[in-house]
Amino acid sequence: MRYLSAGESHGPCLVAVIEGLPSNLELNTENINRHLARRQQGYGRGGRMKIETDKVEVLSGLRFGKTLGSPLTLLIKNRDYDNWQEVMDPYNPAAKGKEGGAKLTRPRPGHADLAGALKYNHQDTRNVLERASARETAIRVAVGSVGRELISCFNINIYSHVVEIGGIKARDMNLSFQELFSKAESSQVRCADPEAEERIIEEINRVKEEGDSLGGVFEILVTGAPTGLGNHVHWDRKLDGRLAGALMSLQAIKGVEVGFGFDAARFRGSQVQDEICYNEERGYYHKTNRAGGIEGGLSNGEKLVIRCAMKPIPTLYKPLQSVDMETKKIHKAGVERSDVCAVPAASVAGEAIAAWEVAQAFREKFGGDSMEEVKANYENYMGIISNR
Ligand SMILES: Cc1cc2nc3c(=O)[nH]c(=O)nc-3n(C[C@H](O)[C@H](O)[C@H](O)COP(=O)(O)O)c2cc1C
Repeated sequence: MRYLSAGESHGPCLVAVIEGLPSNLELNTENINRHLARRQQGYGRGGRMKIETDKVEVLSGLRFGKTLGSPLTLLIKNRDYDNWQEVMDPYNPAAKGKEGGAKLTRPRPGHADLAGALKYNHQDTRNVLERASARETAIRVAVGSVGRELISCFNINIYSHVVEIGGIKARDMNLSFQELFSKAESSQVRCADPEAEERIIEEINRVKEEGDSLGGVFEILVTGAPTGLGNHVHWDRKLDGRLAGALMSLQAIKGVEVGFGFDAARFRGSQVQDEICYNEERGYYHKTNRAGGIEGGLSNGEKLVIRCAMKPIPTLYKPLQSVDMETKKIHKAGVERSDVCAVPAASVAGEAIAAWEVAQAFREKFGGDSMEEVKANYENYMGIISNR
């Protein structure tokens, strides 16, 4: 299963073509739209999210609410395009746009602006930032939601919550899984600890006043993944490697941990590995889950636990130093309309990215061209391993 996406931040739309889905998967676009709406929320976001109300359209591969097995094309319109038609005119070489033809020549530190403009020989960094922008995460959420629909048929579910913003950490509230998720879902910063939430909101307000920005850490949890997704036999099929690579590709993510992650390096072997148990009811299981549900590149039947560290938003209303690429003189970096903190939104995008990777590993394990075939393969395998 694979996909390609396209679209600029202020262009007409974002699109993706997904290939390799089984036929007869029921797809409810309202579920996809729900995740798109979740991505748009979170305290600390900028003005753009007030303009967009993302909705997915399906252009191919779906009939009467079920996949056909042919490529599924998804489209999300950029409503803001109405305000940017001249600036983003695809056809007219003489178009100047509302910036009066002014080029963006003062690259923003922390963005692809400078390296992208040099690499592609662009005089106007807008030609880079339009695609590098995290607006692209909207289509990734839509694609991931399709993967999510697929794996949810096999009771694999994905959640996320924010554990830290601007150095303010959520306490471990010792909540059940459902409580944790429902508290995170109703929090303005997707944080289950109300005390931390309050302090985080204050910090976002303070930092906004100062023209600065914040990053943080979110955690993704995947329940119901059967033993044996991913592979130990080759490096590029390892589930942890795939999840980490995919999540690192999310804009502004600078670190990904599975289970104990970096902490594993600080303890002894006996304090880090998870002892193996067996009983009739559960079959094999582990006493603890420090591995975060993946051993040797394979899911081991436990919950997958992944944490992602997001750097602070690089566009600053009080900009840092840059160099004007036309004059080579020192200048303040350019300012684009921007979020102050997007960790809650990133956690929703992270869920979708993880969902897609798990769905891909699931397709590799169980194959099949129709959902009926996938289900038969899944049940057969689950029967085999439950008798071991
Ligand atoms: C959901 C989300 C929203 C973001 N919003 C902004 C934003 O408004 N302004 C900004 O400068 N960067 C924003 N970023 C981060 C940049 O897109 C990212 O830092 C940039 O593309 C450079 O990539 P890198 O940080 O991975 O190197 C956002 C990231 C995510 C995941």
